[in-house]
Amino acid sequence: MCGIVGMVGENLKLEDLVISLQKLEYRGYDSAGIAYLGDNFGVYKKKGRIDVLRNGLKQKLNDRFFVGIAHTRWATHGEPNDINAHPHMDCKEEIAVVHNGIIENYREIREFLEQRGHIFSSETDTEVIAHLVEEEFEGDLLDAVLKAVKKLKGAYAIAVVHKSVPDTIVAARKGSPLVAGIGNGVGILASDVTPLLRFTKDVVFLEDGDVMVLRKDGFEVYNTDGVKQQRKIYHVDWDEKAAEKGGYKYFMYKEIMEDPQALVNALVGRVKNDRPFFEELEYYEELLKGADRIRVVSCGTSYYAGLVFKYFLENHTDIDVEIEVSSEFRYKRPHIKEGDILIAISQSGETADTLESVRLAKKHGAKIVSIVNVVGSTLDRESDVTLFMNAGPEIGVAATKTYVAELAVLYLLGLKIMEINGYWDREAEDILDKLVRMPELLENVLRKDPQIRELSEKYKNYRNFMYIGRGYSYPTALEGALKLKEITYIHATAYQAGELKHGPIALLDVDFPVFAVMPDDSLFFKTKSNVIESKSRNAPVIVLGTEGNRSLEEITGDIIHVPPTHESLYPLMMAPVVQLFAYHIADLKGLDPDKPRNLAKSVTVE
Ligand code: G6P
Repeated sequence: MCGIVGMVGENLKLEDLVISLQKLEYRGYDSAGIAYLGDNFGVYKKKGRIDVLRNGLKQKLNDRFFVGIAHTRWATHGEPNDINAHPHMDCKEEIAVVHNGIIENYREIREFLEQRGHIFSSETDTEVIAHLVEEEFEGDLLDAVLKAVKKLKGAYAIAVVHKSVPDTIVAARKGSPLVAGIGNGVGILASDVTPLLRFTKDVVFLEDGDVMVLRKDGFEVYNTDGVKQQRKIYHVDWDEKAAEKGGYKYFMYKEIMEDPQALVNALVGRVKNDRPFFEELEYYEELLKGADRIRVVSCGTSYYAGLVFKYFLENHTDIDVEIEVSSEFRYKRPHIKEGDILIAISQSGETADTLESVRLAKKHGAKIVSIVNVVGSTLDRESDVTLFMNAGPEIGVAATKTYVAELAVLYLLGLKIMEINGYWDREAEDILDKLVRMPELLENVLRKDPQIRELSEKYKNYRNFMYIGRGYSYPTALEGALKLKEITYIHATAYQAGELKHGPIALLDVDFPVFAVMPDDSLFFKTKSNVIESKSRNAPVIVLGTEGNRSLEEITGDIIHVPPTHESLYPLMMAPVVQLFAYHIADLKGLDPDKPRNLAKSVTVE
């Protein structure tokens, strides 16, 4: 996720462009830049937060411009540095582009353009857009952008300016948001409405496939064939603060609602010819071949994602997966030999215990494959190969959409390891197919939000919760309990359902509810008998199960259904439910879920 802005008008100062960009800082903050046409055509970009950009521009903030674009970056391709920062330019430095999204086929396009003599300066996927537009430009910017976007695969929201076109921005959208409006003598577009509100509350949301020509006094929208489209004007009644959170009260809520998008972003470009595909693993496939054991280290929510991976790979191959919480791994005899694979999972890429575990494993000859959200983080830099989550920045302290993204990458990696090692079969095909179709189903799960809030209302005053699940549902139980603990401060514990009778069942009574994770899988009836045992101790029961299973009603009236899927994929399907249940309890209790007490987003100390 990145933030983009475009502004065109008569009385604009660079300060206006920077202020607009700052409203989008939550969308990314590893580097920022602007391109503008005033007395000159200028580009200025810098690694770091927007304040670094602002400081660098101090002498110029009062300079006037007619047309300008700006970008705040959350790196996906190429580490955060001045060169990889947007805007990106063509060879002649006449065209500048800002982009939010991922261009899936950028390698092919880059090779093609290099053969035609284009010189690239960054490692980004975005730069190909500037050169493509250059290639197509024959005096008409709209025409050139229309031709260029036809060649792009993936997700994008872009804004393009040309040195010789002082009154127009051409923008396009597919899969990444873009909204535009006209204020008093100012045309403005951005990744969300926040920057627009200073100028207008009447806005148009671009749709996938739209290409827009924006001027100071109006705009036209075309489809990719250049045919004019009508788009509705919406009146937005948000204040600027609410708009930053997309109208949601908290970032955590917004980020849960972004679960389906995070899943899409993690999958983009990673399925080719109905098989899992990781460009990044190109030179490492050999390492994964013949592996009989894989080690995994991580902390918190990332650890639970790793646990799902263990169940997945062990259920589908003979490969052993040994997973350990990083803070334990780093102090044990490592049992690593030369060439072993260690997978490190970390949203931030800065978790101290995970980094130390990786360093220890490397010392003993392990190769490190990491799954990371923050490009350029320490873990990214210290790993042999990094598979990025591409979830965009997560502001809420509790991991939500990045858990979904971690799971997606781990399922794909598991499938890739199966393929490399001769385990590919019809079932693998089916899982991949269901994974690719999952984002839409996650949208359906999110539509259960009002029902989940009602349940949260009913259960918010209990002081203890017991989460249970078997097999793939055990990590979901653990994650549900963790979410509840960290943001509501209610005590919650999670057990493998079969372990209940070995002690924890003694806790259950009318004041100690059970949250049973029990989809229609091969262990359903086993879990069901454990839940019935809990009921006989008078514990109130919430069931998280599969749509269409009428037998759940014999257990309780408090049921949340999710659509059916392959049994291995239920952790992904059910993640939003446990996240929302905890979120609503926190909100109903008047607690701020974005900033839970005693916790930090990234734990960089021991
Ligand atoms: C902190 C966060 C958790 C996160 C854990 C691991 O405790 O509050 O949400 O799961 O760190 O973080 P990582 O960045 O390594 O995934």
